[in-house]
Amino acid sequence: MPRVMRLMVFVAVVVAASFAGAGLTWSGGAGAVASATAVQAGITIVPRLAAAAPAAVGKGAYAASSTPLRNNPGGAVVGTVTPGTPLSVTETRGSDAHVSVQGWSSAGSNAIVAAVGQRVVLVSLTAPDQAQRQTGAQTKDTYGTVWTQVTVTGWVAAGALTADVQTVWAHGREVYESHCSTCHSLYAPDQYTANQWPGTLQPMADRAGLSGDDLVLVLKYLQTHAKTQ
Ligand code: HEC
Repeated sequence: MPRVMRLMVFVAVVVAASFAGAGLTWSGGAGAVASATAVQAGITIVPRLAAAAPAAVGKGAYAASSTPLRNNPGGAVVGTVTPGTPLSVTETRGSDAHVSVQGWSSAGSNAIVAAVGQRVVLVSLTAPDQAQRQTGAQTKDTYGTVWTQVTVTGWVAAGALTADVQTVWAHGREVYESHCSTCHSLYAPDQYTANQWPGTLQPMADRAGLSGDDLVLVLKYLQTHAKTQ
């Protein structure tokens, strides 16, 4: 982008950060651990959920599929968690789980991605001003874009979580194979980088009739198994 615009974006980020002011926190510290333990003490797990046991408090879990993120159990949707995204479970209430996701966001983007400069979307926020976000460190990439470390918290259906991310990728692989090997042999996921896959996949998805949650799943599967350089 032109230099002047880039400067404006940077100023906007700095202003937004100062509005957040003293409340700017990073949730990785001892406080988070202490509160997770407190929550754990008061928890009752209903047997039906215990059987599936994907949402153990204080444990990591993964989104099994594209999953709505809400500010309250059963509340308004503020975003979507993509399949295979790692989450920390901090509380469960009935069939809902309170989770947090850590990642990075570039200035002006509503996507939270896994790493600076990488377009692997963990959460896309559809109502960003309502989402519960905490911001941390900032850095600039080689293009001068400002990236902010973000922790998003919210509620998902406990049944939408899995402890085994390999089941997610196995399903992704199935959908990929069934849609993408009819006209030519299957391209290996590591033939492209994580940042090349979105633009490579989109025109092919149109030809293959791959859309919605299936498209999101296949993209995440390919990006997770992409070549690194
Ligand atoms: C209807 C037939 C058809 C389907 C279905 C199809 N492809 Fe293709 N694909 C093609 C053709 C034809 C080409 C050759 C290049 C072109 O025409 O764009 C191609 C090329 C490609 C390439 C190489 C692109 C490049 O720039 O060299 C990739 C990667 C690819 N396809 C991936 C996929 C994926 C992933 C899917 C499933 C979402 C898919 N294809 C489904 C017809 C198809």
